[in-house]
Amino acid sequence: MPHLTTRVAIVGAGPAGLLLGWSLHRAGIDFVIVENRDREYVLGRIRAGVLEQGSVETLQRLGLGAGVEAEGMVHDGIHLQFAGERHRVDFSELIDRTVTVYGQQSVVRDLVAAHDGAGTPVFYDASDVAVHDLTGSPSLSFTHGRRAHRVDADIIVGADGFHGVCRQAVPKDALQTYVREYPFAWLGILADVEPSTDELIYALHDDGFAMHSMRSPSVSRLYVQVDPAEDVANWSDERIWDALHTRLAVPGWTLQEGPITEKSILPMRSFVVSTMNFGRLFLVGDAGHIVPPTGAKGLNSAMSDVAQLSVALVRHYAGDDTLLDAYSDTALARQWKVQQFSQWMTDMLHRRPGTDDTAAFDYRSQLGRLDYVTHSEEAMRSLAEQYTGLRLA
Ligand code: FAD
Ligand code: DHB
Repeated sequence: MPHLTTRVAIVGAGPAGLLLGWSLHRAGIDFVIVENRDREYVLGRIRAGVLEQGSVETLQRLGLGAGVEAEGMVHDGIHLQFAGERHRVDFSELIDRTVTVYGQQSVVRDLVAAHDGAGTPVFYDASDVAVHDLTGSPSLSFTHGRRAHRVDADIIVGADGFHGVCRQAVPKDALQTYVREYPFAWLGILADVEPSTDELIYALHDDGFAMHSMRSPSVSRLYVQVDPAEDVANWSDERIWDALHTRLAVPGWTLQEGPITEKSILPMRSFVVSTMNFGRLFLVGDAGHIVPPTGAKGLNSAMSDVAQLSVALVRHYAGDDTLLDAYSDTALARQWKVQQFSQWMTDMLHRRPGTDDTAAFDYRSQLGRLDYVTHSEEAMRSLAEQYTGLRLA
């Protein structure tokens, strides 16, 4: 059985695992990444689209800025739409910060290319991945190319997403989980058409939420609120475009249609685990927390965790454990602020199902909140600060 020894064994080659591995590579710290999907699947997965300014800076600091600098679309603000009117929140003017539209697929592509170029040890297409002895001498076992492998490590990092094995390997009584479900989901499409807007539009309509985002000057990304039990097969292209035309309509503006190349339904959940550290295991990204997508915080949170953990590991190997011991608390302190922002954006912009008095009250109250947020400079400044990304800790 191949038997490896390394300092940091990383489970998962999503953006969090690949970014942590690359940070450690740059710092000269040995690592191994083990991923249970094949490389093509990892490269093809379509998810988040908006990078906070701090996430862009992280990529640049790690020598990964070329792609985002060439292809990323810097946005100075967003549009919030309700009651048939569109209002702009100008981040640059309010707080001199921006966001960059650059798909998670592109971030992952850049990371995979960097790892390939450096020949780092990334095992794709592994199976039976398991972690052992988290409070003693930790190790990782997996099957690769039909052969059993074992990796002994100082530290194990769970970067294996919400459904991964690492969090589940922690004894139940050592973890507290916090969950919030939402009575709606997003149906998302990619369409081969020039975006009809130069900045993202988040809209609350009588029929529910809709959003216009983009991936490139020739690819649009759009979402509509649907029931979480909805079957994507019930949504023909024509029905999707109809819903988008209705919900995004404002006088004098036209939504351009194009061929739909991808269509899927995304569930929504808020989830946080306390603690993000058990013995020699550290969790990063979706393994430790999930947000509903409104506000685009999932990928950015994963990158923020990695930025904190990589500095802590560098200090650890220089003989100082202060940051590593504090990692869970510092990551969660930031994460709870992000959680409340994502929950706030989601609650403000989605129509609660039902025709009862509470649903009617909530809708009026949401319109009042949107009116406030788009007319109070203090409220817009707060939105801008959170949307473009809180500083670490
Ligand atoms: P992941 O990207 O989930 O990566 C985890 C990796 O671990 C995967 O490669 C997985 O294959 C691997 N893995 C899992 N189990 C094992 C195992 N047992 N052994 C080895 N490897 C394993 N966020 C936004 O901000 N905006 C969006 O529009 C948005 N859209 C999303 C759409 C979908 C369908 C989903 C699921 C998420 C979306 N997110 C969005 C969230 C965002 O994509 C995630 O927050 C981000 O991917 C987190 O990165 P991660 O590396 O922590 O986890
Ligand atoms: C995208 C997703 C989001 O959740 C969001 O708030 C903004 C943009 C996107 O996929 O482009």
